[in-house]
Amino acid sequence: MTMPLVIPGVLTRDQVTTIRRTIEAAEWIDGNATSGAQSALAKRNRQLPEESPAAREMGGVILDALGKAGLFIAAALPLKVFPPMFNRYAGGEAFGMHVDNAIRLRRGSDFRLRSDLSATVFLCDPDEYDGGELISEGGAPIKLPAGDMILYPASTLHRVSPVTRGERIASFFWIQSMVRDGSARKMLLDLDLAIQSLVASQGNDDPAIVALTGVYHNLLRRWADC
Ligand code: NI
Repeated sequence: MTMPLVIPGVLTRDQVTTIRRTIEAAEWIDGNATSGAQSALAKRNRQLPEESPAAREMGGVILDALGKAGLFIAAALPLKVFPPMFNRYAGGEAFGMHVDNAIRLRRGSDFRLRSDLSATVFLCDPDEYDGGELISEGGAPIKLPAGDMILYPASTLHRVSPVTRGERIASFFWIQSMVRDGSARKMLLDLDLAIQSLVASQGNDDPAIVALTGVYHNLLRRWADC
């Protein structure tokens, strides 16, 4: 498994509809409210204020869904997830090349995290807008169905191309992983998925599978901070 990683179907269609209906009716502000100095120059979009009741409530729906998304948990090994935020792009709005802030603070609280991973959950389908691809340096443009999530290292340079038709609405947030090192995290994911595949074909009482599961947990114990 390699990054960026697509995690399909994090949200159901009904959840997407509920979230869109709720946030579209809320009050939006200039997206630069959360930017660092460099990214403020590059960013043209709108977002919901962090303290917006709609953002908090619908962010909660997304956090609940993440808790049930096995591939997300296996890949991110999340220690902390920043409360999901929401943005929208239309009429040529875009976000130029930037890197996300390393430390994210939640205004008005003592919540802070180190951003190891960045996530976007798409809330519009690709045919609803033109442009709006998420483009990482050297990577293919990414544009996913509503309800799907893309997970990528927060250390990567990335941008959102101009939205030239329709509107792109998404949720975005950051994750601090229990395993800081991305290559260690990748090995744990690969091992986890290989074990799950063996369990599916052999059952879970094969002594070799039990031993491999032990290795997985002992590596996690070695590498995780929580
Ligand atoms: Ni970004």
